[in-house]
Amino acid sequence: MLTPNNKFWLSDKRRQQIKLLRRLLNVMHVKPYQIVILILLSIAVATFDVLGIGLLVPLAQGITGTGFTAAQLPEPLSKTAGFFFRNTNIKISPALIFFILAGTIFLTNLLGIIVTFIYTYYGRYLQGKYQWHLHTFVYNRYFSFGKLFFDKTSHGTIKKVLEYTNSSVQLVRISQNNLASLTQLIGYLAVMTWLSWRLMIMVLLIFPLLYLTSRQIMKKVNTLWRQAKEVTMDLSRESFNILSSLPLVWSYSQEEQSKKHYAQMNEKFRKVQLKAEALGYFTILIPRLITVLTLFFVVAYIAFSIHRDNGLDLTRIIIFLYVASRTVPLFKVFNSIWVAISEMTPPLLEIIGTFNNKGKYIVREGSTIFTGLQNKIRISNLSFTYEGREPVLRHVSFNVPKGQLTALVGPSGSGKSTIINLLMRFYECPPRTIFFDNTDIRDLDFKSLRQHIAIVDQDPILLHDSLKNNLTYSQKEVSDQQLQHIISQVQLNELINRLEKGLDTVIGDRGVQLSGGEKQRVAIARALIKKAEIILLDEATSALDSATERYIQNTMNTVFRNKTLLLIAHRLSTIKNASQVIYLEHGEIKEHGTLTQLISLNGQFAKQWKTQMSASFKN
Ligand SMILES: Nc1ncnc2c1ncn2[C@@H]1O[C@H](COP(=O)(O)OP(=O)(O)OP(=O)(O)O)[C@@H](O)[C@H]1O
Ligand SMILES: [Mg+2]
Repeated sequence: MLTPNNKFWLSDKRRQQIKLLRRLLNVMHVKPYQIVILILLSIAVATFDVLGIGLLVPLAQGITGTGFTAAQLPEPLSKTAGFFFRNTNIKISPALIFFILAGTIFLTNLLGIIVTFIYTYYGRYLQGKYQWHLHTFVYNRYFSFGKLFFDKTSHGTIKKVLEYTNSSVQLVRISQNNLASLTQLIGYLAVMTWLSWRLMIMVLLIFPLLYLTSRQIMKKVNTLWRQAKEVTMDLSRESFNILSSLPLVWSYSQEEQSKKHYAQMNEKFRKVQLKAEALGYFTILIPRLITVLTLFFVVAYIAFSIHRDNGLDLTRIIIFLYVASRTVPLFKVFNSIWVAISEMTPPLLEIIGTFNNKGKYIVREGSTIFTGLQNKIRISNLSFTYEGREPVLRHVSFNVPKGQLTALVGPSGSGKSTIINLLMRFYECPPRTIFFDNTDIRDLDFKSLRQHIAIVDQDPILLHDSLKNNLTYSQKEVSDQQLQHIISQVQLNELINRLEKGLDTVIGDRGVQLSGGEKQRVAIARALIKKAEIILLDEATSALDSATERYIQNTMNTVFRNKTLLLIAHRLSTIKNASQVIYLEHGEIKEHGTLTQLISLNGQFAKQWKTQMSASFKN
């Protein structure tokens, strides 16, 4: 039985594409009424254009023939003129008719220009709006993706997709141009039929030929443009990747190889582009050829008519030719819309790729508001695996009691930072594995949870912004006095005094203008400013010299006293005050107890402790 859907004539793939297109239009806030207005405006543009040409006929006939007669005025004009001049003594003289005709042509063209302007302006206005919506939507989407997505996706790719959102709406501009061409084409065909239907039939036989020949070439050009686009994408990503890792390139003397590789890609792009351009030229050549062909047929027809003495109206024929020559290029519209679509398909697909949740590792947000820790954070039988890898955490269980220092130690790669990322809800954890008091972390609202936690990352994230903004990030209410106090607590005064612009110095992308230790101190200061009750420190002082580390450790001991602290450290001297130590190896808790208990256990931890202590004693 037939159902009123598209099942029978649309393939699954097409339907999927239509669904995606709808989604895209939705995101761009494309409203049907806007399209209707655009279509109406384009019809108005074409109407004025056609009217202008139509009125040329009586004017040309009057000039070339036996002068102007009232019969030459088209019906609405003669009626209007009759209405105005009926009760006056002015006779509608040939001169007046000429002025009425010429004036109307002038007015029609003037109105045409005004309507064209409105049409173009409205189209560009819509394009800007669509672009804004698309760009903002895609940009905002990234905020909802999990950290794992960013771990897997290069910055270059994200930058490229965001750039695409700005360029892909070119499609709107192209569609608008094509819409104008289409309505104009219909208008011209109507005018041509009116001028001479016999010639029109001839032309109608020629035009499909034009369409069919250029379509074949267009197909090839499309493929080439698509290739060129893909190569440009790779080119831009590659250049971004290389230029942002130049120190690596330099230190391995890979400049020549990198340049060569880039030049090869660039060369590939150049060749594809040249081919596409050259072939594209044929699409211009063919219409010209066809115009000449049309002209030839029309001239043959005229010669034939004169020969048969058919009473030919030459004026009409000349205007017909004029219109025909303007019509030929318009036929491109059928092809160019496909060119636009195929050119825009790869970028659009990349953009649409951000719309779904597949591969975005989105961490589900709960709705319970976290109002503060009452008792403890409880990690219970937590296992975690990065996709396609061995488990990095296996059945990990321990508590982080409120107001105490818990130390997490273990060899590199044992899974310590992974735990921190899970506690921050950067990665999704299995259900019922992490609890804040009795609430599963998965049920908590992000904002309220993260407001209560300050983190100093192993690799602190600093922004290309002033030192001050990096320190006070998002904490607007910090007074200058507080800021100064914290700066001296982390011993950053000396650095700031040395800088010409002091706190206003911009510290470069990811803080490249700071030393490793300075970066860490900025991150610690930022955590101190946040005044959170739970503190996660992941190798927070690892880049500091021992004197500075000791000083800052003392500061943190004072400031973070009574806070809930989870501290990861390789340098065991920093965990002396810990109320419990968890020793992790290959994602498993191997030893767990107080510092004294672990030392007396004489296991792996004690071994490391002894080595480090004797080394520092020797120093
Ligand atoms: N985004 C990721 N995708 C896949 N594997 C990861 C990812 N992040 C970490 N790993 C792997 O998980 C394991 C644990 O990493 P993690 O960063 O938790 O170790 P760690 O104990 O903090 O080590 P370190 O002391 O060197 O900082 C490592 O083997 C690492 O290669
Ligand atoms: Mg780590």
